[in-house]
Amino acid sequence: MSTVGIIGLGYVGLPLCKLMCDAGHGVIGFDIDPKKVELLRSGRCYLAHLYERFGRSFLCDMLATTRFTVESETARYTDCDALVLCVPTPLTDDRKPDLSFVVRTVEGVAERLAVRGRPQLVVLESTTYPRTTRDVVKPILDRAGVPFRLAFSPEREDPGGSHDGRTIPKLVGGIDAASRQAAVELYATAFETVIPVGGDDGGAEVAEAAKLLENIYRSVNIALVNELKIVLDAMDIDVWDVIDAAATKPFGFARFTPGPGLGGHCIPIDPYYLSSIAQKYGEQAHMIELAGRINTAMPLRVAEKTLDAIGHPRPDSLRRVLILGLAYKPNIDDVRESPSFELIRLLTEAGCEVQYSDPHVPSTHPMRQWGDLRMHSIALTADSVSSFDAVVVSTAHDGFDWDLIARHAKVIIDTRNALAGHITQGRLIKA
Ligand SMILES: NC(=O)c1ccc[n+]([C@@H]2O[C@H](COP(=O)([O-])OP(=O)(O)OC[C@H]3O[C@@H](n4cnc5c(N)ncnc54)[C@H](O)[C@@H]3O)[C@@H](O)[C@H]2O)c1
Repeated sequence: MSTVGIIGLGYVGLPLCKLMCDAGHGVIGFDIDPKKVELLRSGRCYLAHLYERFGRSFLCDMLATTRFTVESETARYTDCDALVLCVPTPLTDDRKPDLSFVVRTVEGVAERLAVRGRPQLVVLESTTYPRTTRDVVKPILDRAGVPFRLAFSPEREDPGGSHDGRTIPKLVGGIDAASRQAAVELYATAFETVIPVGGDDGGAEVAEAAKLLENIYRSVNIALVNELKIVLDAMDIDVWDVIDAAATKPFGFARFTPGPGLGGHCIPIDPYYLSSIAQKYGEQAHMIELAGRINTAMPLRVAEKTLDAIGHPRPDSLRRVLILGLAYKPNIDDVRESPSFELIRLLTEAGCEVQYSDPHVPSTHPMRQWGDLRMHSIALTADSVSSFDAVVVSTAHDGFDWDLIARHAKVIIDTRNALAGHITQGRLIKA
């Protein structure tokens, strides 16, 4: 077994540490955030869904093996036979790829590779546009003047989903066939199915583009059902009935559902990585851009439907709105890019008093985009629910008491069809 360094201990890197540790490797986790390093070293995990997936003691168990250590400095990169990069790839303010984390991290890897003086396998897992591994990462590593293998393997993490990461097939491409093979051998120790992609050139670009296709596929199809929702709503046809009906087709149809907008770390962001690089190659990614516009417009539609239902607030008549669900998808605590924040902003700007309830998100934390909202989840009781002019269902957590909401809400704006089958007596508006 070898020593594997995993750089960036977030949603992607931390579960990977667990899988590599289970496979018997020595694992060194690296993160530049000293708070995360301190927590992990004391056996505490900041990602609650990992406790559900791996059990409450998983970090302590990993530390107890003595095969898992956590570092904030790069010095121990030199001890690693393989380094796997799981650092952020966000968008800039003008929605362009921001590779600054990748570039800074790879510069650190190159420095240490020069010190190490022996070959190392480097794998990028961060989602990015095709050719990043070959055109951005490789030239930096070349500066070390030491041989290396370099591969790309996209992460298919499913926060809150039922998939055990080990069983999700792992795509691997390299900058050459030997690099791909080295990465395949590493991942085969931890994953049930490893799929080498591409041809003699190693296939890094196929692996990079496949990851984007997976997320663009979702973004475009969600935009399609969101658009259908608007059209059918105007015709007084329930889009949810239509989707259920179409989904009975046993081939050629995949079920996607509408909602209040896109959330999460991948689908709202990754498509822009491809549309942006397309422009650099003189092409336009029309579908991606259109899907982005349709999905981004959803929170405004939901806010407008809410205001239409309860009337616009006036100085003499305040309107109170309760948003159900701050996380971007059910049963998790991840609020990144959640459309609920845009709903809060739009309704607050329209003069409403807005509160939220989310059993997974007790309080808001300061965020770059939204500032410090200082909001706290309220408990759902008959009194609290009935004290609002409208309840907006943004995320349908299993933990919500839909019967209570159906019985006591004055008006329900349901973006998730969560109240289907409940008696709401004309107080339900689907949005
Ligand atoms: N979250 C997901 O579900 C998901 C799924 C698939 C792919 N991805 C992709 O994986 C990548 C990582 O995403 P994430 O959600 O894990 O991000 P994250 O923000 O949860 O974690 C990234 C971590 O990297 C650390 N970091 C940044 N620069 C570093 C450096 N130089 N050295 C050490 N640590 C560093 C940060 O402190 C942070 O803890 C992104 O490219 C993302 O698009 C994420």
